[in-house]
Amino acid sequence: MTDALVIREAVKADAPDLKRLGDALLTETAYFHRLPQERAATAADMAAVIEAMAAAPRSAYLTAWRDGAAIGEAVLLAGQLQRLRHSGTVGVGVLARCARQGVGRRLMRAIEARARDAGIDRLELTVLVDNAPALGLYKSLGYAVEGRKSGSVLIDGALKDEFVMAKCLALSELAQNGESG
Ligand SMILES: CC(C)(COP(=O)(O)OP(=O)(O)OC[C@H]1O[C@@H](n2cnc3c(N)ncnc32)[C@H](O)[C@@H]1OP(=O)(O)O)[C@@H](O)C(=O)NCCC(=O)NCCS
Repeated sequence: MTDALVIREAVKADAPDLKRLGDALLTETAYFHRLPQERAATAADMAAVIEAMAAAPRSAYLTAWRDGAAIGEAVLLAGQLQRLRHSGTVGVGVLARCARQGVGRRLMRAIEARARDAGIDRLELTVLVDNAPALGLYKSLGYAVEGRKSGSVLIDGALKDEFVMAKCLALSELAQNGESG
């Protein structure tokens, strides 16, 4: 029988699994800013990243597991300055072999719940304009395109544009309540 999907915060003991997950994610897609060699080089480095994320106030490093294997992750980086406390930056990745099974949406919903608990209302991200799966995911969750960064990423010698997207949790809840009430 296949285990259910588990979404939970990363812990230090996950380091070897999350190192492998990161290597796979960064190798199979060019949609991230980071190159494979720019993520943790060893499991010990990965453990340090997990500890740093756990120590970052109101931030979260969530992971998705199926059959004991790490298959996806999502990050919430909370604004640390007083004037940015209500904002957070988010990111997500799911292994290609597990795509289109609702894992990305579950991770992003869990990140939203963590943001609400931390008093964060505005979630922001950037996404390459040709990243159709991620654009589809973010739009389906209510993120809106707020702008376009021209030539903001250099991939294989070519400059690529990104959309700036954001979602205000309170506004989207108001809209949902409005629809249902
Ligand atoms: C983007 C990504 C996280 C989506 O994860 P996922 O688990 O496949 O997404 P889900 O199955 O939860 O899909 C949720 C919704 O996203 C949209 N979506 C997902 N894949 C899509 C695709 N290939 N094309 C269009 N829309 C897509 C759909 O609206 C989908 O809802 P539906 O299946 O009910 O139609 C995943 O493709 C990924 O990790 N890509 C590589 C890394 C990346 O680009 N990260 C984002 C960087 S900004």
